[in-house]
Amino acid sequence: MSESFYLTTPIYYVNAEPHIGHTYTSVVVDTMVRYHRLCGERSFFLTGTDEHGEKVLEVAEARGQSARRVAEHYSNLFRQTWDELGLSYDRFIRTTEPGHKSVVQGILQRVYDAGEIEFREYEGKYCVGCERFLTDRDLVDGRCRDHERAPEKRTEANYFFKMGNHFDWLTRHIEKHPDFIRPERYRNEVLAMLREESGLGGDLCISRPKSRLDWGIELPFDENYVCYVWFDALINYLTGIGYPDGPDFAEFWASAEHLIAKDILKPHAIFWPTMLRAIGLEPARHLNVHGYWNVDDRKVSKSLGNMISPLIMKEKYGFEVFRYFLLRDMAFGLDSNFSEELLVGRNNADLANNLGNLVSRSLNMTKRFANGRVPEPTESEGPESEVIAVAERAVAEVDVQMRAMRPQRALEAIFALVDASNRYLELREPWKAAKDAELAGRVDTTLYTCCEALRIIAILLSPFMPQSADEILRRLGIEGELDGAQLPQSASWGGIPPGSPTTKGAPLFPRVDLDAESE
Ligand code: MSP
Repeated sequence: MSESFYLTTPIYYVNAEPHIGHTYTSVVVDTMVRYHRLCGERSFFLTGTDEHGEKVLEVAEARGQSARRVAEHYSNLFRQTWDELGLSYDRFIRTTEPGHKSVVQGILQRVYDAGEIEFREYEGKYCVGCERFLTDRDLVDGRCRDHERAPEKRTEANYFFKMGNHFDWLTRHIEKHPDFIRPERYRNEVLAMLREESGLGGDLCISRPKSRLDWGIELPFDENYVCYVWFDALINYLTGIGYPDGPDFAEFWASAEHLIAKDILKPHAIFWPTMLRAIGLEPARHLNVHGYWNVDDRKVSKSLGNMISPLIMKEKYGFEVFRYFLLRDMAFGLDSNFSEELLVGRNNADLANNLGNLVSRSLNMTKRFANGRVPEPTESEGPESEVIAVAERAVAEVDVQMRAMRPQRALEAIFALVDASNRYLELREPWKAAKDAELAGRVDTTLYTCCEALRIIAILLSPFMPQSADEILRRLGIEGELDGAQLPQSASWGGIPPGSPTTKGAPLFPRVDLDAESE
């Protein structure tokens, strides 16, 4: 049986509208899942909303509404946005679902009964933005590095999960599985965090007294407390696939891939694996960590008010262009800058001039010189073999890069084939060859080669730009291409049937002129 893949996004807080940062993680997961489906692999895409905790209460109080109402509002907004953007999630989970509450309570009781939770007093620096107590590493000039606000000093009697009991095991696990946390820079960061946390005793406060916060899941062993929002939220990854005894749980859990940005590295790399250990489950297969989208060198966030709305980007440029930009411009793991100039630059260079041009030239000439039907190739020479070799390399390279969670590198490999095809067209000059008695015989092979390269490009591109890929296949007269056939066989050279009726169509990716836009 082929491998399975279970991919998750963070569940987003219900205190702000979806912006470029949330969209990026969700789009990467969507792209990965589409790729696995293309390979005939079973996959499950979980996303959703994280609805308890102080952040939501803060918004609710400011608006004079109930926390439940605020949560409902933003959760709907996230779901509707992902629907409007065509993200192909399998389940959208909400932490306020009754089913999630009973899973969390069952786990709390189990971990409590195992003696891994203890009750005592604690004083610390708490950031409401992060919903957690901070350590000195989290502070810059006394302020939280992410929220740029000073934490509050808090003393409370609370329940603590003794996660430090599992630090030796976790350190060994990270050392034994070098790509558990990837890219590597974050693995090193986690090992440093672990050393620091060990020095602090390694306890995690997992309760909040109801007297201060009652918007959460009640502890099953003390009705005066609710569960700390992170302890509740992380468990969504289990609830989402039917823990404890759903039919698919074991299969999907064994293949779990979490995607997050570096802001939530500690909860995912330290709290979560130790919680799983206490529950008696293995950690996820990979924790994939990306950097921040910045605008003017500052992280995009609600508190800074510099958010970029995916729906506005969709309206202005089309979602596929925005999606391509996100996937292509961010090296997974590093920070990236967003500006409309950069997006338009990518659109004009990669999509309009390069890919769009290949599509329109190939199909225009097929129309002119082959009556609009993919011709039968005759002989294949050096230049054809070169395109075939680049196509084969692209199929293999995309696979390697996708499995290593480097979508930007996979796109590079696809565009190497677009470049090679354009160069090939320039070399063969079918527009001249067709008028030259000696060379005219070669035109059919040239057009076949371009159409076949386009077919492979469209298949490989379909996880990244599903609609554009469908449209290319439609124009090639083979729109059912993606049903049934699987990578890598579906993209092996020679798959396009001669005689397919092609369509010219309007430019796929019109050039955008930013100056004209702003007029
Ligand atoms: N609710 C928690 C996650 C719980 S998961 C069990 C949370 N929510 S969040 O709404 O703040 O989302 C954080 C995530 O959104 C990041 O990890 C990342 O996936 C995405 N991003 C939000 N802002 C971002 C950027 N500026 N850049 C890139 N991605 C960022 O944390």
